[in-house]
Amino acid sequence: MPTVRLGDFTCGYDDRGAGPAVVWLHGFPFHRGMWAPQLDALSRDHRILAPDLRGFGESDRTSGPYTMERYADDVAALLDALALPLAVVGGLSMGGYVALALVRRHRDRVRGLLLVDTRAEADTPEARERRRTTAHRARQEGVSVLIDELLPRLVSDETRRERPEVVSRLRQIMESAHPESVAAALAGMALRPDARDLLPRVRVPALVLVGEHDALTPPEVAQAMCDAIPGARRVVICGAGHVSNLERPDAFNAAVHPFLRELR
Ligand code: MLT
Repeated sequence: MPTVRLGDFTCGYDDRGAGPAVVWLHGFPFHRGMWAPQLDALSRDHRILAPDLRGFGESDRTSGPYTMERYADDVAALLDALALPLAVVGGLSMGGYVALALVRRHRDRVRGLLLVDTRAEADTPEARERRRTTAHRARQEGVSVLIDELLPRLVSDETRRERPEVVSRLRQIMESAHPESVAAALAGMALRPDARDLLPRVRVPALVLVGEHDALTPPEVAQAMCDAIPGARRVVICGAGHVSNLERPDAFNAAVHPFLRELR
């Protein structure tokens, strides 16, 4: 796995294939390992990059909060370090918040957008309060608090029944998260601005993907986001929950592949 120094931290990332660059940004509290099925399937005609966002996976932990703006600047710094002027940017859930922050702050670096199981709205006051409580508990009791709370809501019943290995993999990924990084990302997500004003001003091709049974960012949320982005398309991944790329990788990749091909 390559690493690169980006300002105040060392970033671990995957870098596979050759061709136009696609950067996948992981959700919370995951790491780049969640993109394994896309690294394999999409790197035949694209250069697929998947960084560990600061604090997660093999990337260094720094002091928080990890705001979406800070993460977006880290991604722009990664593109600079790799001499890539442009990339298609895809993000799942928190990764989608970062992708939208990247559009706001570094619009000229974004060649296309893949918004996966995510939303443009900011947190409600209640959601912010919940994040504060979860961050406190994660610090006191460890990340198992978060796993117990979040994992049952992440995947669909079908996935739980038919692909238990996906649940085990997610658990393993989540268990590797450091409580301080969890708290820093929760604080950063609570601070994120509403991105709905940005959607009508997206000028690049966009694909919105959502699991049919996504309980955290349901299909109607994805539809509203899609309706607000000029020319965007939405694809519902049948049988998947919130982690659609891992739960139904074949359907997910089959939706992404033509989008990337058209962009070439
Ligand atoms: C994620 O999957 O990244 C999280 O559910 C995002 C969030 O907590 O808003």
